[in-house]
Amino acid sequence: MRVLVTGGAGFIGSHTVDRLLEKGYSVRILDNLQKPVHMKGKPDYIPSKAEFIVGDVRDKATLEKSMKGIDAIFHLAAYQDYLPDFSTYFHVNSVSTALIYEIIVEKKLPIKKVVVASSQAVLGEGLYRCQDHGQMIPDIRLEEQLSKGDWEHHCPFCGKYVQYLPTPEDKINPQNQYAMSKHSQEIIAINLGKRYGIPSVAMRYSIVQGPRQSFYNAYSGAMRIFALHLYFNKQPTIYEDGMQVRDYVNYHDVVNANIKVLEDDRANYQGFNVGGGKACTVLDFYEKVQNVTGRHIAPVVSEFYRYGDTRHILSDIGKLKSLGWQPEYSIENSIEEYWKYLNRQTDIEDILDYAEKTMKNMGVVRAIKK
Ligand SMILES: NC(=O)c1ccc[n+]([C@@H]2O[C@H](COP(=O)([O-])OP(=O)(O)OC[C@H]3O[C@@H](n4cnc5c(N)ncnc54)[C@H](O)[C@@H]3O)[C@@H](O)[C@H]2O)c1
Repeated sequence: MRVLVTGGAGFIGSHTVDRLLEKGYSVRILDNLQKPVHMKGKPDYIPSKAEFIVGDVRDKATLEKSMKGIDAIFHLAAYQDYLPDFSTYFHVNSVSTALIYEIIVEKKLPIKKVVVASSQAVLGEGLYRCQDHGQMIPDIRLEEQLSKGDWEHHCPFCGKYVQYLPTPEDKINPQNQYAMSKHSQEIIAINLGKRYGIPSVAMRYSIVQGPRQSFYNAYSGAMRIFALHLYFNKQPTIYEDGMQVRDYVNYHDVVNANIKVLEDDRANYQGFNVGGGKACTVLDFYEKVQNVTGRHIAPVVSEFYRYGDTRHILSDIGKLKSLGWQPEYSIENSIEEYWKYLNRQTDIEDILDYAEKTMKNMGVVRAIKK
């Protein structure tokens, strides 16, 4: 079976490529080596056994050439982070997905599976419960609330604090340009897939962690920022009170999930949450980074927040588990591998500079009013 992996030079894509080759698939990569993800050109981890096409997924002719002779597609190339050039998210993420289906239908290609990368961001603020008013999906927390250092969601009916719950696939509430474009990819893949009999699956990854994660993607936040601060003996800032729940998943588990849905037809025409299945607060995560690296520095907590962050989010992974997949790697496994990866880099000063400048330029970090 011949598999096309768009974005195959990236973090999740390259690990998926490695596993596909190990399993005997033949692989073609389509990737434009986008900056800032690839600051130094083609990464040296790309296996020579994989055919490599440098090109943009927005370009129909390039995509058509890449899809020739292919049996299955992982569409992982994407525009990410939270920068305000809103239209780019839809050009790269949504239009490229529509083009894949357009080409399959136009050229009558015998594609047996398309897997698109979606994101936990599609779930927005996630699911909550008020003890008096039941389940609800809250809106984002606005400036007026956050500037007072009031972090938790309130019930819109009684004002009491509400409790987060693991969020299943059907609680869709995309709140930003990235999430909206990812949701559109899911709809294109599943609905056009069904309509034209092209088996398709959408994978909603939580925060994926591991080596090869670009140091220049702003969204790879907590791991990179905590690891860099400890590397340089600097004090990190933890936003809000550090009690935000996050959902970290190891890249091996994500690759296992990708292979599972490629090979298991029960996954067809569905979307799946792909998370670690365990709640971890940001403070707990920082504690784990300190323990694994053996470096300990007290952080600054509760003075700053990032406007637009979700308060808590934990994906309910029961649906994918029912197909026989489950997370097998711990957060500590991810930190260990990432720390080794960071220590192998030769330009760590540049990475720290870049991370700090990006955060400032994004203008999303704000101080509470005292
Ligand atoms: N890493 C995570 O935590 C995470 C979480 C949720 C969803 N996702 C999704 O998973 C997918 C892979 O993410 P990743 O972390 O491996 O990202 P990455 O940035 O490491 O890899 C993306 C790859 O796509 C390529 N690319 C970008 N724009 C392109 C274009 N126009 N044409 C061709 N190639 C292009 C880049 O060069 C890069 O190699 C993405 O769709 C992302 O939205 C990732």
